[in-house]
Amino acid sequence: MIEFRLGTHVRLGVEALTALDQFADLRSLVVTDRFLSTTDVFAEVVDRLGDPTVYSEVIPNPTIEAVGHAVTAYLMARPQVVVAYGGGSVIDTAKAMHKAALDAGMGAEEGLVAIPTTSGSGSEVTSYAVITDEISHAKIPIVSPDLVARLAILDPKAVQSVPPKITADSGMDVLTHAVEAYVARLACDFSDAFAEKAVQLVFANLVRCFTNGDDMDARSHMHNASCMAAMAFDNVGLGITHSLAHALGGRYPIAHGRLNAILLPHVIRYNAEHSESAAERYARLGALISPAAHGRAGVQALVGGIERLNQKLAIPARIREEGVDPSDANASLDGLAHSALDDGITASNPVQPSLDDLKAILRQVI
Ligand SMILES: [Fe+2]
Repeated sequence: MIEFRLGTHVRLGVEALTALDQFADLRSLVVTDRFLSTTDVFAEVVDRLGDPTVYSEVIPNPTIEAVGHAVTAYLMARPQVVVAYGGGSVIDTAKAMHKAALDAGMGAEEGLVAIPTTSGSGSEVTSYAVITDEISHAKIPIVSPDLVARLAILDPKAVQSVPPKITADSGMDVLTHAVEAYVARLACDFSDAFAEKAVQLVFANLVRCFTNGDDMDARSHMHNASCMAAMAFDNVGLGITHSLAHALGGRYPIAHGRLNAILLPHVIRYNAEHSESAAERYARLGALISPAAHGRAGVQALVGGIERLNQKLAIPARIREEGVDPSDANASLDGLAHSALDDGITASNPVQPSLDDLKAILRQVI
C-alpha cells in the first residue's frame, strides 16, 4: 500500500499574502530572523495580521538551546495562529516551537502558516524539521504530522532580493529533491507528477533567477518548483546525494544545495550503473530536457544537463574549489562514508550502497 499526503493549502502568486487577512482578528505570533524583520515584505505580513507578537531571534541552523528560548516566547504569547516568515531555519524553528507547544497542550488552535523566503528546502509543506545539537554538532531530524503547515504562502516578492549565489544553491537543492524523489524506492505516479514538473521548472527558470533576480515570472516558477519537489520527497524520500551532502556539510562549511549540486551527477551515474529501473527513470527525466535522447542517452542527457546548469550557476565540479583541503577530505573518507551510510535517507535510495561505493563517490567530488 502506498500513501500520498497533501496536507497543506497552498496560495501562490504576487497577491498571495492577502491570505493572511483571514487571521487579522486572531492573536498571532510571527517567527522570523533579525534581517528579515527589517524588510518591506515582512512589514506587509505584520500589517495584514494586525498586531502580531514578533519573535525575530531565529538563528541559522537552529540549536536545541535556541529552540528552547523560542518555545518560551511561544508559550508566553499564547498565539491562536503561528506564522513563519523565512527560509528553512525559520520555518523549522517555528515547526519545532509549535510541536513543543502542542505536546504541552498549548499549541495554536489555528495551526502553522509558512511563508518561505527562499526557493529551496520546501519546509513549508514537509513534515520534517531539523535541529542541531550544539555540543555534538549532529543534526536531529524531527518528523511528525504535527509539523505540517496548514497554509503555505508562495509569494515571489518574498524571494525577489535573494542574492545570486543563494539562488543558485537553493535552486540546485530543489532539483536534487525532485531527481532523488523520482528514483526513490517508494516513488509513485503522484510523486512522479510533482517531481517531473519541478525538474522542468528548474531547467527553464533557475538560470533566469540567477542572472536577473527581478524576473518575477521566473521567481514564481522556481518558488512553485521548490514546493512541488518537497511534496514529492516528503512522501517518498530522497537518496544518497542528500546522505553524502549531510556528511560533507557536517565537516565543511559549504551550502547544502551546493554540495548536492556537486554530488548529483556522480550519484546519478552510480545509481544508473547499478539499477536498470533507476537508469530508465533517469532517462525519462533526461528526455524531458533533451526530447531526442532515448534509453541510456537519456541518462547522459540528464547528467550533461545538470553539469551545464552547474557551470551556468558558477558551481564548481569539485569541493576542493570550495576551499576543502583534498588531503583532509581523503583522510576523512571513512568517517564521511560511515556517516552517509548511517543516514536514514540512504534507505530510500534506489541502490543500497556499500561503504566502498560511497567512498568512491566522495573521491570523485574531492
Ligand atoms: Fe535538500
